[in-house]
Amino acid sequence: MRHLIDIQDFTVEELDALIASAENIMDHPAAYADACRTKKLATLFFEPSTRTRLSFEAAMYELGGQVLSVTGAESSSASKGESVADTAKIISLYADIIAMRHPQEGAPLVASQNASIPVINAGDGGHSHPTQTLADLLTIHRECGHFEGLTVGLCGDLKYGRTVHSLIHALSRYTGVRFVLISPKELTVPEYVKRDVLDAHGMAYTETTDLNEALPTLDVLYMTRIQRERFADPNEYERLKDSYVLTSGKMALAKADMIVMHPLPRVNEISVAVDADPRASYFRQAMYGKYMRMALILRLLASAASDEADPRQLGEISDSCRCRNPRCILRTEQELAPRHLRSDDGRIRCAFCEAQIY
Ligand code: NCD
Repeated sequence: MRHLIDIQDFTVEELDALIASAENIMDHPAAYADACRTKKLATLFFEPSTRTRLSFEAAMYELGGQVLSVTGAESSSASKGESVADTAKIISLYADIIAMRHPQEGAPLVASQNASIPVINAGDGGHSHPTQTLADLLTIHRECGHFEGLTVGLCGDLKYGRTVHSLIHALSRYTGVRFVLISPKELTVPEYVKRDVLDAHGMAYTETTDLNEALPTLDVLYMTRIQRERFADPNEYERLKDSYVLTSGKMALAKADMIVMHPLPRVNEISVAVDADPRASYFRQAMYGKYMRMALILRLLASAASDEADPRQLGEISDSCRCRNPRCILRTEQELAPRHLRSDDGRIRCAFCEAQIY
C-alpha cells in the first residue's frame, strides 16, 4: 500500500502519470463519476484550511465516493490527548483513505505507520505539503507546457512555507530548473533544503532580498504568505509581514509569458489589481488542485487494492540523540521511537520532521 507523505515518495515518472491522469479526468469527468462508489475519504484537519480540505472533499464526491470529516483538534479526541497513532488506527476502521493536516511535523508519517489504509499528508507544520505541490506541478505543466529549463522565483516566507519546501523537492528532479529564492534574510530556505535537496541535485540557485531585480529573469513567480502562525515572536511577524507586495507596476517588469502562482490564502502579498492580469494563475491553480487530488485518491486506492509495497525508507531507530525541533511529532507522541536519516556526508536528520540533529 502506498501513502503520500512527502512529494519525493513519488518518482518523476509517477508524478508525470498523475499529471496525465488528472488531465484525463478534466477532459472526461463523467467517466470517473462512479470510480469511488462505496469508498470513504476521512479528512482530519487539525489546522485551519479552506482550499485543501474542500478540494479533497469535492474530489471524493466527484469520484462518487463519500466523506467523513474532522475539523479542528478541539472537536476531536486529540483534545482529550489521543495520540496520532491511535487516531489513525481508529479511522482505518471507518474509512478507506485519510487526508491529514496537522500542526506537528511528521504527524502524517506517524499516521501512515499505524493506519491500515493509505494516508495523505495535507500539510504538516512548516515541513511539507505534497498535494499542494501536485496542484503546482499541474499548473506549471498546463500553463508553461514543460518543467525543463524554467527559472522559478520563490518569494516570501521561504523558511516556514511548507509549500515552497515541497515544490523545491519536486522541481529539483527536473533538468535545468533554476531557482531564485527571494526572501527577507530572516526567512530564507532552511539549510537542510539547500544542502540535501538543491545542492544534492546540483541545482542552480541564487538568493536575494530584491523582488524587482529578480522579476525580469523569471518564467514562474511563486508568491507566498508570511506564515504568522509559525512565528514564536509576534513582533518579528509584524516587522516582516509586508516584505513583498506584487503590484501591477511590478508586473510591468516581468516577462510577457511569466506566470504568477500562489498556494493561497493571500493576505496582501499580491495586489487585487493583479488578478485581472492574464499571467495571474493562482485561481486556476486552486482548480487544478482538485483534479490532482482526484488522480491521487484513485492511485492510492488502487495501491491498497493490490499488493504494491511502500518504497519509503523509515530511517534507523536510534536513542542516541533526540530531535530538538519544537514542532516535531516526537515531542508529544507517546512512546514513539526516534528515527534518523543519514545524508551522504554523514549528517543525521530526524526521520519525522527532517530537522538536522548533528
Ligand atoms: C498553504 C498551506 O496551508 O500551507 N495553503 C494551502 O494549502 N493552499 C499556504 C499557506 O497557508 O500560506
